[in-house]
Amino acid sequence: ADVPVICIDGPTASGKGTLAAALAARLGWHYLDSGALYRLTGLAARRHGVALDAAHEPRLAELARALPLRFADGRVWLGDEDVSEAIRAEQAGMDASRVSALPAVRAALFELQRGAARLPGLVADGRDMGTVIFPAAPLKVFLTAGVQERAERRHRQLQARGVSVTLESLRADLQERDARDQARATAPLKPAPDALLLDNSALSIEQSVEQVLAWWQARQ
Ligand code: C5P
Repeated sequence: ADVPVICIDGPTASGKGTLAAALAARLGWHYLDSGALYRLTGLAARRHGVALDAAHEPRLAELARALPLRFADGRVWLGDEDVSEAIRAEQAGMDASRVSALPAVRAALFELQRGAARLPGLVADGRDMGTVIFPAAPLKVFLTAGVQERAERRHRQLQARGVSVTLESLRADLQERDARDQARATAPLKPAPDALLLDNSALSIEQSVEQVLAWWQARQ
């Protein structure tokens, strides 16, 4: 049967993950956090002492293809290490952005992502869900928010976790990652031609969820 897929793409810290997880819960669908796969690849590379550059692309792709992943009780495991916290660190996001620019790494993760589409449906979040992984998805949303707003949200999240970083350095990190994600040759961050744009700068999570659900219902 045709598995319905809703794609939520957008820049770093636009709230994609929160929105996608909430939507999946509301619909009773599966949820794919594609960024986590790039974060895990970066982490696996660090654990194996492999540099995150184009000279090591084949080795990095091999690591991506064979990620010893396990999801259990809301935790993420890489081999026998619980990496639930490690993959959310700013460093892991920056490392993910570097490995994700390598075409062989993206190709290595393609099937794993496609395979996540299972009944009754999938909400997938990332950068290229609507453009590359699920180009035939019936609903694609491109989520945006201003860079200052995104930096402030990330800052609050990190503070709540007891991590101390300056707003200025977060803003600079976001801009660096946005620039690399948009500039790369393979699967750059950009809205699919048929994506609906949602700027959530002034919306609550609940309001964003309601908007996407309304779009989804309108397509039924
Ligand atoms: O979304 P998240 O911040 O977890 O993604 C981490 C990094 O992984 C992004 O900055 C981006 O470079 C990369 N990514 C990607 N394609 C995706 C998801 C994430 O290139 N579908």
